[in-house]
Amino acid sequence: MRKPIIAGNWKMNNTASEGVALVNAIAPLVKEANCDVVVCVPAIDIPAVSEALKGTNIDLGAENVHFAEKGAYTGEISATMLLEYGVKYVIIGHSERRQYFGETDETVNKRTLTALKAGLTPIVCIGESLEEREGGKTEEVLATQIHEGLKDIEDITKIVIAYEPVWAIGTGKTATAEQANETIAFIRKTVGEMFCSKCAEKLRIQYGGSMNAGNCKELMAMPEIDGGLIGGASLKAPDFATIVNFDK
Ligand code: 13P
Repeated sequence: MRKPIIAGNWKMNNTASEGVALVNAIAPLVKEANCDVVVCVPAIDIPAVSEALKGTNIDLGAENVHFAEKGAYTGEISATMLLEYGVKYVIIGHSERRQYFGETDETVNKRTLTALKAGLTPIVCIGESLEEREGGKTEEVLATQIHEGLKDIEDITKIVIAYEPVWAIGTGKTATAEQANETIAFIRKTVGEMFCSKCAEKLRIQYGGSMNAGNCKELMAMPEIDGGLIGGASLKAPDFATIVNFDK
C-alpha cells in the first residue's frame, strides 16, 4: 500500500560532471524499478544532473533548502530556485546538518513547512546518537524530534521521514532489520498520535545508515520499512541499482 522510495544522498561528493556520469550509469540499471527512485545531490550539481535525468524514472532531490522564500541570506538556496530545475524532494534535518551546521528541530520545522508550501516533498531525517541509544533514550529523542520538527504540518502524508540512527551513518554498523523495524513502528505510532493513525499508515518511512547492496533485501523485507536513504552506496551505480532493485 505504501510505495517504497529509495533515495541516494550524495552529501558533499561528486562534482557536476561526476554527478552526470553517475546518473548516466544508474539510469539504465533502474529502468524497471517498482519503487520511487531519487538522487539528492549537491546544489551546484542540480542544473546538470536535472538535464541528465530527463527521460529517466529517477527524480531529483536537494540536500537542504532555506526556510525563507527569498531575501538577504547569503549563501542560501530557496525552494523556488530548486523548483526551477525540477527538484521534487529535499532532505531536511540530516544529522550531519544538525551536528555541524546548527540545525535544530525548530529550523527543521521551518524548512519543512516552507518546502511543503512550495510543493517540494521533504525527506525529514530523525535519529538518535549512540549515547542516546545506550542510555535508553531513543524513543524520547525521536518523540521530541517528531513533535517539534513536524508541528503545524497540514498533511503529514506529503512528507517522507528518514529514520537514520546517527551511530549507523557511514560507520558500516547497520541497525539490525528488527531494530530498525521496531523503531520505525514507534515513529509511525508517534506520528499517528500527533496527527491521525490513518495518515500515519500512509506515511512513508525510510531507514538510513550503512544500507547497502548486501543488507537491503533484509531491511526492505520488514513491514514498517518503506525505503532507504543511502549515503556511501549511492555513489556506486551497481550498488545503488541493486538497492533500488531490492525486490527482484
Ligand atoms: P551511509 O549510507 O553512508 O551510512 O549514509 C547514510 C546517510 O546519512 C544517508 O543520508
